[in-house]
Amino acid sequence: MEQQVEDLTNELLDEAEPKGTVDLVQAYSLPIPVKVIGALMGVSDDDMPRFKKGVRVLTEGMSGWGIARTILWDMPEVIRFSRELIERKRTEPGPDVLSSLIEAEEEGEKLNEDELVAMIFLLIFAGYETTVHLITNAVLTLLQHREQMEKLRANPGLGGSAVEEVMRFRGPVHGTKPNYATEDVELRGVPIKKGSMVIPLLGAANRDPRFFNDPEVFDIERSPNKHQGFGYGIHLCLGARLARLETRVAVNTLLRRNPNLKLAVKEEELQLQRVPFWHRYQSLPVTLG
Ligand code: HEM
Repeated sequence: MEQQVEDLTNELLDEAEPKGTVDLVQAYSLPIPVKVIGALMGVSDDDMPRFKKGVRVLTEGMSGWGIARTILWDMPEVIRFSRELIERKRTEPGPDVLSSLIEAEEEGEKLNEDELVAMIFLLIFAGYETTVHLITNAVLTLLQHREQMEKLRANPGLGGSAVEEVMRFRGPVHGTKPNYATEDVELRGVPIKKGSMVIPLLGAANRDPRFFNDPEVFDIERSPNKHQGFGYGIHLCLGARLARLETRVAVNTLLRRNPNLKLAVKEEELQLQRVPFWHRYQSLPVTLG
């Protein structure tokens, strides 16, 4: 897998570098996880855009109209297409996760079609909507901390711990799904009533000075670094290893091939997308070279 991701990053840079200045999100951070998760799931490059509609509400702004359009049109279309895909894989299975899920049996029971549709949606969107922003956040944070960037360029073996530090310092996901208290509890002096919704703020935990020395300092060699960016416990992120690998390879290849990499706009011009519990940029214009 590592070699495939490296080949992909090189191909994308072969295309982007002659242009000089590009939006790194569109040219690099996005196609990497889209192509990787597409290949793993057995969804072709041509079919992947049909899924993107389901989450365009995130990139285009969470307006009332955007949410209504998602419920009324975009999601029904994604569901229709997922069913079509399941049908195709039933007749022509391939060496991919979707074909395996269709075949998988646990104690004599198979996943039914609704469960398969939900699984496709979860894996495809969790597979790229997150990692695209980890790659982007990693590159931006390194550009803002040049001495850390040079350290990594000189020693790519630090890639793994650099990715962990980006996850802590500027991870893309800042909250979990809603959790509901199954009984009355008290957490650090705060009473939580049975049935109340609780969303732990991972981004805040990752800057907690009781757990991290100098939490505002970005240090790619930080150790220990027990950040919560991939959640924790039984719902710990299923794709954490994949996201780590993709980001480490993406950042190392970019730095190796572009010794003069720089931001192509002023930092103040960068725009965060207004998506609750996320830290994601609209675009990241950079000059390659
Ligand atoms: C940088 C990339 C990623 C980040 C920051 C991230 C973050 C998270 C977080 C915080 C959770 C826990 C949510 C909760 O407790 O409610 C989670 C769960 C999950 N993630 Fe990721 N994720 C990433 C990449 C991926 C990838 C690449 C995949 C799939 C290939 C994936 C699949 C999942 C799934 C299926 C769950 C649900 C696990 C469960 O509830 O048991 N994630 N992720």
